[in-house]
Amino acid sequence: QSPVSGSSHAKIILIGEHSVVYHQPAIALPLPAVRESATLTARQDGQQQLVSRYYQGPRQDAPASLYGINHLIDVLLKQFTFHGGFTLDITSHLPAERGMGSSAATAVAIIRALYQFVEQPLSHDQLLADADISERIIHGNPSGIDVATASAQDPIWFITGEEPVSLPFHLHGYLVVADSGIHGQTGQAVKAVADLRRAQPAVATPIINELGHLTYGAKSALANDQLIRLGTIFNRAQTLLARLGVSHPKLDEMITLANQNGALGAKLTGGGMGGCMICLAADESSAARIRVALANSGVTQSWVQPLISEESK
Ligand code: PMV
Repeated sequence: QSPVSGSSHAKIILIGEHSVVYHQPAIALPLPAVRESATLTARQDGQQQLVSRYYQGPRQDAPASLYGINHLIDVLLKQFTFHGGFTLDITSHLPAERGMGSSAATAVAIIRALYQFVEQPLSHDQLLADADISERIIHGNPSGIDVATASAQDPIWFITGEEPVSLPFHLHGYLVVADSGIHGQTGQAVKAVADLRRAQPAVATPIINELGHLTYGAKSALANDQLIRLGTIFNRAQTLLARLGVSHPKLDEMITLANQNGALGAKLTGGGMGGCMICLAADESSAARIRVALANSGVTQSWVQPLISEESK
């Protein structure tokens, strides 16, 4: 049997982080430029080996950080009644704990590879249900947005408790994603917002409502190719997220630098208090200029992605 591979990609939250916790919508975007892949190669010695950036060795000896993924593999192999040997090679270009959905991307890539390996068909619903097995272990009570986006082609309109809706877009612009290098503290950031909402509801509630309103505006800007409007929305969202206390001095510095170097708007993405920032650029050369300015200030990882969907090119 020749090796089989499954792949997936990173996700970012375009807008709506934190307010989504309070029943406002969020928009998440797949980042196909930042890929994850899982390759399965059959082994004759019956061993099941893992090769990842964290660990290389027998599956049964994998560290606790791989427990969620390993449990997912156990469940699937049992379901397939497969007891043979393999090497599972996980190659990730996603930094972990930066709000890019690395655990969901890993799960999606592994599930796709495993179904191919045992020659079973895989429906989209089954993929989401299977990925939920490891996401529940890793994140407790995941909203499902990461998995939905790791397996999608278009942005996703997301309201907690509702089916994610695919959001076609027609935007002629580029998105630059840059990693602050600081591990995101999603749990801590969500708690900080909850604490503020309890202590000062007159401050927090209007901010959360306005973030929701901005998300509706972003949806309309995406659909109508209004890049400048989306940039303005990004900047306003960042101001509000900073008031909620979830930005970080490094993110603030990167956002200012991006805007000084031609970005049409910039904000943190995901939980904040570290992690990544995103900004909009009018064209490829503007995106390149922003990346160079960020790199010169010490940012080691950034990615650029066109915002136009394939079918609207
Ligand atoms: O850091 P991420 O990408 O997992 O995003 C967190 C988004 C929040 O709205 C802050 C929390 C949540 O559960 O929706």
